Amino acid sequence: MKPLIVVKLGGSVVTRKDEPFKPNTLVIEQVSKQVSGLLRDYSFILVHGGGSYGHVVASEHRVDEGYLEPNQLIGLSRVKLSMNELTQLILASLASHGVPAVPVTPVSCLTCSSGRIESFFTRPLRMMLSLGLVPLIPGDIAMDSSEKRFTIVSGDQLASFLAVRLGAVKLIYGTDVDGVFTSDPRLNPDASLIRRLNRRTIRGFAASLRPGDVTGGICKKIEEGLYAAEKGVRVIIGNLTRPEALSLMVKDEAGFECTILEAG
Ligand code: IPE
Repeated sequence: MKPLIVVKLGGSVVTRKDEPFKPNTLVIEQVSKQVSGLLRDYSFILVHGGGSYGHVVASEHRVDEGYLEPNQLIGLSRVKLSMNELTQLILASLASHGVPAVPVTPVSCLTCSSGRIESFFTRPLRMMLSLGLVPLIPGDIAMDSSEKRFTIVSGDQLASFLAVRLGAVKLIYGTDVDGVFTSDPRLNPDASLIRRLNRRTIRGFAASLRPGDVTGGICKKIEEGLYAAEKGVRVIIGNLTRPEALSLMVKDEAGFECTILEAG
């Protein structure tokens, strides 16, 4: 079988985070085209985030906090509606570039406990991959066996879990910045890119890395990524809005501005 690459298409890549329900069509197209060109040599699982679709709706209904009151249930439905819409747009773009992607809905094949994946029926995914299909998986709502009863399972967690479970050679977290910076590059012009990050070196930066949206922003992403790195997956955080970024990160990330997460 071809080497497996798991790519998380961050919400900041596939949507415009500053405008509700606005896809980033240009970047979705760029990514689809690159996946199409890479399929001859690699197999892919594509995971996508919520961005200005799922996050807005999920926080309106406090879905990440678990069950608080019955009115939240319609909120679960609305999160699915918004995420389905985004998945559909990405799927259509991939198909138009000849990528045989198939959407896979986490809420129907996994359960969580206190927000962490506790069981995941991955056999269909393995069968899809061996056939040459490309699973397309959104961050999703999920049933939770703790007293939460439901939760949000982030694309970041799904991506690292699957990269480890399915033996991916590489896990790429695609964002709209070049990687992890010493502080927020949009606020601080002196922020510099951290090329390599592990559990030891992160301690020096932890205070300046700010948690963001309902699923935790960059800190959670690093945590999920380190889990996979420590299990032997090569993990990269990089800017997928740059032209040819995916191809470069898949084939050879040396020379590409990005952050590599390392065990140790
Ligand atoms: C969130 O997924 C999905 C929902 C809110 C349903 P992510 O947490 O992976 O999304 P981004 O990448 O941060 O937008």
